[in-house]
Amino acid sequence: MIFKKYLFTGFAPNLRFKDMLYAMKYLFLPWFYKRLVNGKSIKVLENWLVNFFGVKNVITIDSARSALLVGLRASNIGVGDEVIVQGFTCIVVINAIKQSGAKPIYVDIDQTLNLDIPDLNKKITNKTKAIIVQHTFGNPANMGDILEICNQKNIKLIEDCAHAFGVEYEGKKLGTIGDMAILSFGSDKCISCVRGGALITNNDELAKKAKDIIDKLPNPDKIHIVQNLMHYIVFFKGKILYSIFLGKIILAISKKLHITGRVIYDAEKKGQAINFYPAKMANCLADLLLVQLNDLDTITKHRKTISQIYTDNINNNKIIKPLLIDGSIPLRYNILTKDPDRLIDMAKKQNIILGNWYRGVVAPLDIDMTNIDYVLGSCPIAEDFANRSVNLPTNININKSDAMRIVEVINQY
Ligand SMILES: Cc1ncc(COP(=O)(O)O)c(C=O)c1O
Repeated sequence: MIFKKYLFTGFAPNLRFKDMLYAMKYLFLPWFYKRLVNGKSIKVLENWLVNFFGVKNVITIDSARSALLVGLRASNIGVGDEVIVQGFTCIVVINAIKQSGAKPIYVDIDQTLNLDIPDLNKKITNKTKAIIVQHTFGNPANMGDILEICNQKNIKLIEDCAHAFGVEYEGKKLGTIGDMAILSFGSDKCISCVRGGALITNNDELAKKAKDIIDKLPNPDKIHIVQNLMHYIVFFKGKILYSIFLGKIILAISKKLHITGRVIYDAEKKGQAINFYPAKMANCLADLLLVQLNDLDTITKHRKTISQIYTDNINNNKIIKPLLIDGSIPLRYNILTKDPDRLIDMAKKQNIILGNWYRGVVAPLDIDMTNIDYVLGSCPIAEDFANRSVNLPTNININKSDAMRIVEVINQY
């Protein structure tokens, strides 16, 4: 049992040996140091994304949360305005809304884990300036209805594609349907370079304002760039050595000594801003992202194949499988069960670390709930789903027989 391969849902899920080698060159080959912060890769990445999405403007930044804040500011959304967001989301999305000065208004979700249209209609007021559509776990939201509502009521539509890079809805790429979209290249996202994001839009005026804001942001500082590069080595080695305990020690020490950064900092969990972000995107991370983008097709097909294995083989009536919309590319395959902790523990005994996104209506569970303007009971389905969710990995490091090992545990639960 001890030597059974560990399977991870999080923990730098997209990381491959070649990504680590690429990262190492920026750490250990001095002639690459001058390209850590600035360089050509940012422009190459932005052009790549312009072509991929077929949009007029792409502006990179340190993360999707920063892209959202900039997008709201560039749209003149702030104090006195309301921004609609779904329950079953992440604290950093709420922080960006609050840092803009606007108030988050929570809408419940439907069975697809996305905005529930009747509840959305109920919660729009004359203060509503934007609706953030989160294509949760890569499952497209009902863009037809949402777009119509936004057009009728003159509300900005912001697509949060943090989970849905390259996903299509009725033949259109998500991210190109609303007024603007944010992309995330964070460590657990569809493709990753540990920390990065972008704002994309066809609206030139909005793009100009966003670019002006981003141009004035500081460069990412070298300490955080090095932390992000170290993330590649620490997680690659840590995961390999996990089964002999050494991996756990490496990961824990790296966290404690700040050798690696955090996905969400403690201050962010309390709704506070952190002083080293927002910042521009780091050139070396843009370069590392391009390595993954080269393999985007393979990575995407893989997620679909693994999800299909779960759909075809999970047959335990204590489990509800996700309602996947056409075109969906599950970033994580979210199942519902009465006792997620028991399932997670059972899997852990088999060296399988299942995912715990979003176990709070605003996740993670240890955030300061007093600071997020959420009224308990206002999104009952989101609350219920948060209590029952467990996510299964679909990443490139999970092969078909790994997926069957996961299915076996779930069917035995
Ligand atoms: C739905 C959603 N949107 C946005 C973000 C922010 O992405 P980033 O880590 O790039 O800021 C996250 C997660 O962190 C998320 O889950």
